[in-house]
Amino acid sequence: MKTRGQETILKLPKFCLVTLIGVTGSGKTTFARKHFHPLEILTSDSFRAVVSNDENSMEASQDAFEVLHLILQKRLSRNLLTVIDATSIQSFARRKILDIAGEIGAPTVAIILNVPEKTCIERTLQRTDRPFGAKVVREHFEFLRQTLTSIYTEGFDLVYILEGVEIISNTRLDFVDEPIEHQGDVRRELRGDIKEIDTRY
Ligand SMILES: Nc1ncnc2c1ncn2[C@@H]1O[C@H](COP(=O)(O)OP(=O)(O)OP(=O)(O)O)[C@@H](O)[C@H]1O
Ligand SMILES: [Mg+2]
Repeated sequence: MKTRGQETILKLPKFCLVTLIGVTGSGKTTFARKHFHPLEILTSDSFRAVVSNDENSMEASQDAFEVLHLILQKRLSRNLLTVIDATSIQSFARRKILDIAGEIGAPTVAIILNVPEKTCIERTLQRTDRPFGAKVVREHFEFLRQTLTSIYTEGFDLVYILEGVEIISNTRLDFVDEPIEHQGDVRRELRGDIKEIDTRY
């Protein structure tokens, strides 16, 4: 990961599983649409809509994720880069997609969008497409805090943490041919304007 001027550049393998992680309103769908081809993005809301006619139907989550996981497995089997656009703030959700990638041997990248709680609440209250209120955002932040402590030991090959709206908006992805080196966990995160690249093992 590099910072050049105002721009943050994240290196990603051309073929990998990208898991976007963030609370509701953190900007995952916006980020995915900005950086990836629509066919590369598997959005949990779309699959809720496919199975139930209602993208906000949380009751449909299990069926929605079953379909999402099946398509993920099919795409990774064809060596196609695939992005999961779901909150993925709970470890069981990440475990499942890591298991699918692991069976295929696909490199795995986590990108955490860490936006202040206040901003996410403001955004959520402005949305007309989603009935969630501040309470749901706060609950999501509890999960996100747990995620930030456990993410490095869960098995992702690369972990990027993008802190704040400005960094997220000024991020560019650089798709590279080189495979990720599996030397334990190479940890790369960006907090504010401080760049840290640190090998843990
Ligand atoms: N960088 C940004 N600057 C300003 N507004 C943003 C930015 N990213 C997203 N938003 C706005 O915030 C709201 C939520 O964004 P988005 O739908 O991408 O979040 P999400 O993480 O996908 O949420 P959910 O988990 O509910 O699907 C949208 O109204 C979007 O326009
Ligand atoms: Mg979304």
